Amino acid sequence: LERTFSILKPDATARNLTGAVNAVIEAAGLRIVAQRRIQMTTKQAETFYAVHKERPFFGELVSFMTSGPVVVQVLEGENAIAKYREVMGATNPANAADGTIRKQFALSVGENTVHGSDAPETAAVEIAQFFSGNDIVG
Ligand code: GTP
Ligand code: MG
Repeated sequence: LERTFSILKPDATARNLTGAVNAVIEAAGLRIVAQRRIQMTTKQAETFYAVHKERPFFGELVSFMTSGPVVVQVLEGENAIAKYREVMGATNPANAADGTIRKQFALSVGENTVHGSDAPETAAVEIAQFFSGNDIVG
């Protein structure tokens, strides 16, 4: 079984949608094996999104991700990384397929409800930024 890192972003917590999003995650056959609600610091968000630091939207992204609580999660399942990206839908909800989380819930390309790792290497780094081994119960 594979693991991926997920964030329910501030637009999800603000609208009380964490349960609704988790229902979609679980219905897709992904298991939530770790979960914590946190307020991300600017430093944590900058570290997490360091790969995007030269992008024009970096400042907006960091300020959004620290604008309210987020729920950080580890999801486990067969092909969890690719499966979760499929369940999330396209980054821009205007392009997201029917039934995806972003199609149902996202407000814009910035306020797009969820994050999911894009490869095994990034999943490992992202999980390690927020969880230690003991926090994850498969
Ligand atoms: P993540 O799972 O969050 O990494 O989404 P992604 O892989 O579909 O998108 P990408 O890695 O390209 O971008 C990371 C995040 O930056 C996106 O999820 C958006 O929240 C944000 N982002 C991307 N493009 C824009 C943009 O044009 N404007 C703003 N404000 N945010 C953007
Ligand atoms: Mg990405």
